[in-house]
Amino acid sequence: MRKLLLLNGPNLNRLGQREPDTYGTETLDDVITKVKEAAEENSFELVDFQSNHEGELIDKLHETEGEVSGIVFNPAAYTHTSIALRDAIASISAPVIEVHISNVHQREAFRHHSMLAPVCAGQVVGFGTDGYRLAALGLIQKIDLGEGNG
Ligand code: DQA
Repeated sequence: MRKLLLLNGPNLNRLGQREPDTYGTETLDDVITKVKEAAEENSFELVDFQSNHEGELIDKLHETEGEVSGIVFNPAAYTHTSIALRDAIASISAPVIEVHISNVHQREAFRHHSMLAPVCAGQVVGFGTDGYRLAALGLIQKIDLGEGNG
C-alpha cells in the first residue's frame, strides 16, 4: 500500500496541554488517529513521527525518501528559522504540505514568515487540528494528479 508520512516538530508532543486557547484540546494521538483514518479511507498507510530535534526531522525526511508518496508536516517553530529543513525538503521528491494549527498570520510578526513554504507543495493554516486532515486530503489529491513540490 502507498504510504503517507505525518511529521510533527517541536512541542507538538504537548498538544492538548500546550496553550489550549491557541492549539485546542486534542492530543497528538487524537490528530494521528484522524489523519490515519483519512489516509486509510483513501487506501494509504500512515507512518507518523514527532521530534523536538531539528536533525531528527531532517533524518526522517531523508530516510523516507522513496518510501512515502507524500508528507504532512507541521514544522512548528522551525518553520520560521530552519534553512536546514528547507534544504532537506528541497532534496526529496515527495510533495510536502506545511500545516499550522493556529493562524500564524494573526499572531506575532516572527510567525508570519515561513522558511519552508517556498519548497512545499501547499500550506494549510488556521483550521485548528482539523487542518491536518484537510492537508492529508489535499496531499492525496496532489499525489493522484502526480504533482510534486512545484
Ligand atoms: C505552529 C505555529 C508555530 O509558529 C509555532 O511555533 C508552533 C505551532 C502551529 O501549528 O500553529 O509550535 O506550527
